[in-house]
Amino acid sequence: MSLFRTKNLDNMVASAATPGGLKKVLGPTDLILMGIGAIIGTGIFVLTGAGALTAGPALTVSFIVAAIACGFAAMCYAEFASTVPIAGSIYTYSYAVLGELVAWMIGWDLLLEYGLATSTVASGWSGYFQSLMAGFGLEIPKVLSAAPGALPGVQTYMNLPALCIMLLLTWMLSLGVRESARVNNVMVIIKTVVVLLFIFVGFKHVAPANWHPFAPFGVNGIMSAAAVVFFAFIGFDAVTSAAEEVKRPERDLPIGIIGSLLICTVLYVIVAGIMTGIVPFKLFEGVDHPVSLALQHAGENWFAGWIDLGAILGMTTVILVMAYGQTRIIFAMSRDGLLPAKLSTVHPKYGTPFFATWMVGIVFGLMAAFVPLNVLAELVNIGTLAAFCLVSVAVIVLRKKRPDLKRAFRCPGVPVVPAIAVIFCLALMSFLSAITWIAFGIWLAIGLVVYFGYARSRSKLHVQQ
Ligand code: ALA
Repeated sequence: MSLFRTKNLDNMVASAATPGGLKKVLGPTDLILMGIGAIIGTGIFVLTGAGALTAGPALTVSFIVAAIACGFAAMCYAEFASTVPIAGSIYTYSYAVLGELVAWMIGWDLLLEYGLATSTVASGWSGYFQSLMAGFGLEIPKVLSAAPGALPGVQTYMNLPALCIMLLLTWMLSLGVRESARVNNVMVIIKTVVVLLFIFVGFKHVAPANWHPFAPFGVNGIMSAAAVVFFAFIGFDAVTSAAEEVKRPERDLPIGIIGSLLICTVLYVIVAGIMTGIVPFKLFEGVDHPVSLALQHAGENWFAGWIDLGAILGMTTVILVMAYGQTRIIFAMSRDGLLPAKLSTVHPKYGTPFFATWMVGIVFGLMAAFVPLNVLAELVNIGTLAAFCLVSVAVIVLRKKRPDLKRAFRCPGVPVVPAIAVIFCLALMSFLSAITWIAFGIWLAIGLVVYFGYARSRSKLHVQQ
C-alpha cells in the first residue's frame, strides 16, 4: 500500500491559508497576462506552418479542437488550484490525492513536458532569430542553423542559436533574474500587439480562393494537426504555480486560467485563418517562421520584420516561464526526497536552485541543438496530454474521497466534464506518431525503474513512517 501513501491534504490546505507566507499581490488581470505570457510562443509562430501542411486551411478547426481539450482540462485544473492553492502544480495535488507512485509518474512526466518545451521553444526562437538577422544581411552558416535532419536535403550539424539562447537564459535564471511580473507584462503586451498587428495588416491580403479546398486531408488531417498545434495552448497551467501569491485565489485562479485560454483561442483561430488565406498552404513546406513569411509573401516586409522581433521576445518569456517551472518541480520532488537532495539546494548568494537550473539548461539546451523541433513538440504534447488526463481523473477521485472539502471553484458537470477532457486528450494522443508513443513509453519505463530503484526508499514519507 506504500505505493499509494499520500501527503496530508488538510495540512496542505491549512498551510496555504496561513498568513505570513509569500506576499499576496496578484489579481485576475495579472494572472491572465501571466497565462498569455506562458501560452503565446512557438505554437502559433512556428508550428502553424507544419499544422497548415497537415490540415490545410482547416487548421482553424484544428485549433478549436485542441482548445476544447484544453478548456475541459482547464476547468479541472481550476478546481484543484482553488481548493489547494499551493505551488507545485499537479505533482503536488496528485501527491495528496492519488498517492506517491502516481505523483512520481506525473512529476516525471512534467520533467519531460517542461524540459522539452524549453528546447522546442528555443529551437523555434532560433528560426525567427535567423530570419531577423537575415533582414540585416547576417547569415549563420547553414550547418550550424538547425538540428541534424531538420531541413530536408540540407546538411546541418546543430542548432547553435538555440543552444546559445538556452545557456544565456539559464545564466540569468541561475543568478535569480526571474521574469518579474512587470517585465512579463511588458513582454506580453509586445507579443499580443504583434499578433494583433499581423491580424490587421494580414487581413486585407486574404484571398479567399486560398481557403478552397478547406479540408484537403479530411478529419484525419484536422485531428493530426490538432495534436501538434495543441502545443500552442500549453502554459495556461503555469498560472497555478502562482497560487500562493494571489489575493483571492478561489475566484482569481479560475479567471486567470480560463480567461487566458479563451483570449489565446480567439487570437489563434483568427491568425490561422488569415495565414492560410494569404499564402497557399503548400508554401509553408520547410518554413520555420511561417507568420512573418505570410507577410513577406504579401509584400509587407517592414511589418514582417516587426513580427520577427515580437516573436523572438515572446518566445523568450515562454522559455523563461517553462525553465522556471521545470526547476520548481525538480525542487519540490527533491524536497520530498524523491530526487537527490543536491537538486533542492539553494545557492547561498543568489538564492536560486543553482545546480538544478544549470543541469536543466545544459541538458535541454543540447536537446534543442541536436533534435528537430517537430519531434520535440510531439513529445511535449504527449506528456502534457497524459498529465491533463490524470488531473481530470483526480478531480473525480477527490470529489468521491473528500466531498467535504471547501472548493471555491467547482468544475461544472462532474464527472461528465472531466470525462470529456479525458476523451478529447486521449483522442489527440492517438493522432501522434508511433515514434512519439514509443519514446514516451521508454521515458515512463525509465521513470518506474528510477522510482523503484531509487526514489521509493528515499521518499520523506517513507523515512517518516
Ligand atoms: N504554448 C507555448 C508555445 O507555444 C508553449 O510556445
